[in-house]
Amino acid sequence: MIPSAESREMEQAVATYRKAFGGTEPTHLSKAPGRVNLIGEHTDYNGLPVFPMALQQEVNVHFRPRNDDQVRFSNGNPEFPPRSFTLSPEIPREETGDWGNYLKAPCQALVERLGPLEGLDALVTSTLPVASGLSSSSALVIAVARALLHTNRVEVPTLELADEMAAAERYTGTQGGGMDQAISLGASDGYASRIEFDPLRLFQTAVPPTWRFIVAHTMNRAEKSGAAQAAYNRRREECGEALGLMWESRTTDDPLPRTPTYSEIISSLPLEELLALAGDRLPPPLLQRFRHIVTETERVYEAQDAMGRGDLLTFGLLMDASHESLRSDYEVSSVELDRLVELARRGGAAGARLTGAGFGGCIVALCDSRHLDEVMAALEEGYYQDREVPGKLEEVLFVARPANGASVHPL
Ligand code: GLA
Repeated sequence: MIPSAESREMEQAVATYRKAFGGTEPTHLSKAPGRVNLIGEHTDYNGLPVFPMALQQEVNVHFRPRNDDQVRFSNGNPEFPPRSFTLSPEIPREETGDWGNYLKAPCQALVERLGPLEGLDALVTSTLPVASGLSSSSALVIAVARALLHTNRVEVPTLELADEMAAAERYTGTQGGGMDQAISLGASDGYASRIEFDPLRLFQTAVPPTWRFIVAHTMNRAEKSGAAQAAYNRRREECGEALGLMWESRTTDDPLPRTPTYSEIISSLPLEELLALAGDRLPPPLLQRFRHIVTETERVYEAQDAMGRGDLLTFGLLMDASHESLRSDYEVSSVELDRLVELARRGGAAGARLTGAGFGGCIVALCDSRHLDEVMAALEEGYYQDREVPGKLEEVLFVARPANGASVHPL
């Protein structure tokens, strides 16, 4: 029998593991998927909904429990050198942007929660493009967390773990929201999930069988460090400032509620009235940031409804509107992201938008299965043909299949 690509990759990973860890064998495999966010960008850290699905591409952690407090990680990608450390409630950080921080973040958080833990020897491999806005870093955090929990025979309820890992990941310096961890843990095969926060909940909608979500990578890395990290954190601050100003300018008979949260402000007034009020109270660019957040929230609910009734055209229009808002009001797009979006639409996509934080990374486009070949061809000819693709084209241009959340398997 010819071994499938997946089992060949597994054999290769086991061989790499043996080499890295003195001939020992891994006993388990912890898997965590990346995600593509279909709509609802930069809303999660404001406590507002998002609508992602997990990808078939994932982070794999082959591991073997140890019976001391040491943790040793090797990576199948030579770009990431080995990292080892001692488990403790205060693990010293690596430099910002170092992959070791995504190993340390879940380990420190779990020791804080559970007390002293036993460590592991692990090899990380990944089928997700790095720094592409498909959440390879949160997938790594989740896969490591599940491996460490398994090693210590502890179970933590899924949503609790997702919340905890979202907080844990801020150890790396990015003030992220909770979308990536929640979908990587809680996704279901064939479904997209609307995620609500405070408290965390997932509401699943089946992806219609003829819908195709295409992911196309600009091949510009959206690093979660350096300039992109600073710009991301700044957007988060601006959202807080906008909310603060909306609330501080309240009059005695003000239509806004007393509690200053986005979700309460949004549910207190019809969208048009809220935007008019914001127009009076907010200076640029806070007005633009605020407008993106509140209109994007409405689009999330409309998009989930559209998917539920199989209304591809409406879903596509909402994606287009989301991209426009991210481009002009939130200012997180780039020339290359705009180009890919344009090409996808011209090729016959019902809609397209940047996905993830922006500043590089990927777009997601939606089309009916009948138009798939044309959209893929438009992207390939218009974008990838004149650029150097590092590796295979299908690693940067592919159809996303809604996959299951994280799991641990004995080997
Ligand atoms: C990154 C963060 C998420 C979310 C998106 C933007 O992926 O990790 O929490 O804020 O950006 O929607």
